[in-house]
Amino acid sequence: MNMKDKLLIDQYNKFPYPRPIKNIDKEIINKGKIPIADPNFSWHLLWPEIKYSNKNLKILIAGCGTHQAAIIARLNPQNFIIGVDISKNSIDHEKKLKELHNLNNLELINNDFRELKFDYKFDYIISTGVIHHLKEPDTALNFFEKNISDKGVIYLMVYGSKKRFALNEIVKVYKKLQFTQTEKSIIQSKNLIGNLDENHPAKEFTYKSTDMQSKEGIVDLLLNYQEKHYDIDELTNMIENEKLFIKNTIDGSISSISKFFLDDYSMISKIRKLDYKDKLKIGQTLNWNDAKIVLILNKVQNKKHSIILNKINLRKCFFYHNRSILIEIAKNYLIINEKKTSKKYKIKINDKIVIDWKLILSGKSDLNSIITSNDKNLEKEIYDLFEILVENRFIDISFYKIENYFNYLPKTEL
Ligand SMILES: C[S@@+](CC[C@H](N)C(=O)[O-])C[C@H]1O[C@@H](n2cnc3c(N)ncnc32)[C@H](O)[C@@H]1O
Repeated sequence: MNMKDKLLIDQYNKFPYPRPIKNIDKEIINKGKIPIADPNFSWHLLWPEIKYSNKNLKILIAGCGTHQAAIIARLNPQNFIIGVDISKNSIDHEKKLKELHNLNNLELINNDFRELKFDYKFDYIISTGVIHHLKEPDTALNFFEKNISDKGVIYLMVYGSKKRFALNEIVKVYKKLQFTQTEKSIIQSKNLIGNLDENHPAKEFTYKSTDMQSKEGIVDLLLNYQEKHYDIDELTNMIENEKLFIKNTIDGSISSISKFFLDDYSMISKIRKLDYKDKLKIGQTLNWNDAKIVLILNKVQNKKHSIILNKINLRKCFFYHNRSILIEIAKNYLIINEKKTSKKYKIKINDKIVIDWKLILSGKSDLNSIITSNDKNLEKEIYDLFEILVENRFIDISFYKIENYFNYLPKTEL
């Protein structure tokens, strides 16, 4: 095992994360808590350029914690999953779930994933909340690049630098006061947050975090030995240095910008001409919604499939609900409701535009089949509307019809 991260091993052995669950069917599937990293439900985000097929994928979960690998294995019996974690205690929790649900498609390994050698490549690598804790995060990306197949994708989640800013300042205070990962420090760190002013942004942040409800969560959130918080440009540079690039985002939390200029089309045109890195940098600052930055990465030779880098011909696209958005259809308006921020955006629609939104957002009909009017101006208006919806990730796209993913959910015990 790589001893550079010895403190990390001790921490996650003593405080395995997340708080363990006992039964995947009852606590996850029956409650509708399907993870966004699930390769079935998020197929169109991971591989918009490939027709759906949820079969025989080789999936690596790098830093799986107490249940992530078992959940993905339970949801995808037709795929093969390897879960790796440096914490033996976390792997033991995964093993209990493997036994309970008879997960023959799951292999579990207690090691630093960077130490492992495989004689095949993975179609999909998931690593959430892991690499920002490493002394050398780039070594993890380097490992992913070497172990992913040509068409494979990486689902990466790291902390951003904006939303957590105030909390990080408090963490620095804990470090100065020599808080450690003891029972006493756990209580003291929680109490200090409780004593802050109600409007303190660190307190506001913790209100929304379920981590404050358990010891493991408090240690992970407030008393972690090491963690890094990324400005998006620093992250994109590291990604590019490791011969990877950003293929997609899962929502608009760092990539949506034109929603801030809905009444100023000249500004929207200006924004569209910016380089993708400038767009993401502006998006991270305007949204301030980067507690978790989630990116889907590809190998550099697959740049042509990036939704982020390339201009997409929306006429050939199919559309789908984004999980972070609720859309209300009112007369002549779309009301877009961002679930994470509770912010609403109102988009006016020309009276003459008639769209069967239910059909369109089910992913079964492409834009070409909606734009059937002979009126060129109206056609352009419809195209512009979809461009706004897509670039802000109010809706998702795919180049293929989108499957009814629920058909592929395993039958659960009640
Ligand atoms: C914050 S937890 C996240 C767990 C899980 N990915 C999730 O999202 O619920 C981080 C996990 O990564 C593991 N980890 C950190 N560095 C690792 C490495 N180099 N190899 C394997 N596991 C690692 C830790 O032991 C811990 O279980």
